[in-house]
Amino acid sequence: MVKLIASLLLLAVVAQAYGDFKCALSKQESKSFVRELQREREEHQLKEKQNLSHEGQDQECKGSLAVPEITKDWVDMKDACIKGMRNQIQEEINASYQYLAMGAYFSRDTVNRPGFAEHFFKAAKEEREHGSKLVEYLSMRGQLTEGVSDLINVPTVAKQEWTDGAAALSDALDLEIKVTKSIRKLIQTCENKPYNHYHLVDYLTGVYLEEQLHGQRELAGKLTTLKKMMDTNGELGEFLFDKTL
Ligand SMILES: [Fe+2]
Repeated sequence: MVKLIASLLLLAVVAQAYGDFKCALSKQESKSFVRELQREREEHQLKEKQNLSHEGQDQECKGSLAVPEITKDWVDMKDACIKGMRNQIQEEINASYQYLAMGAYFSRDTVNRPGFAEHFFKAAKEEREHGSKLVEYLSMRGQLTEGVSDLINVPTVAKQEWTDGAAALSDALDLEIKVTKSIRKLIQTCENKPYNHYHLVDYLTGVYLEEQLHGQRELAGKLTTLKKMMDTNGELGEFLFDKTL
């Protein structure tokens, strides 16, 4: 009887020990399982991030949302007029760079004509703004959803030095005449049938041509005054004229 009781007690102890061991094993497995899950989740998140990054590069920042299908009937500018607008944007940027070169030249310590430099830097800024306003116009008409990357090419500046202020003002006047002709050509393209882009033609005529014509007159006046001053006073005339700019 005593042996039986002892055997039962031993059996109970072994059973308890086995239960504890199984429980510990179960906890251990559970922890490993959780760690495995976490590792898989982290790997998945990393892959998703990498995929999003690649998609972003492929789509050139088009965003992750699909473009909804809506009517395009309101996007009604015609090809020749759009092409003319794009050309005009490039013309304005070309003029801006040329004026920038003029401003840089008269800023040289060896030239040192701060009035001329300021005048041409201001002109460069205005030309750049003319270009960006035409870009805004195309965008307003729904024409900038594609082909944006080749909208503007960085131009090579044709001339970087001038014999004097009169030569630079003369070049500036020639540049404005060229831009004016380009705007007139654009107006003719866009006003003719079948385009009849009245709104654009009105904008180009009322805003751009208006400014061009006043700008040309101002430059012609300045050039005349400067030439008179230089004819009678040489470089001193140029020096004094620079103070008026
Ligand atoms: Fe302009």
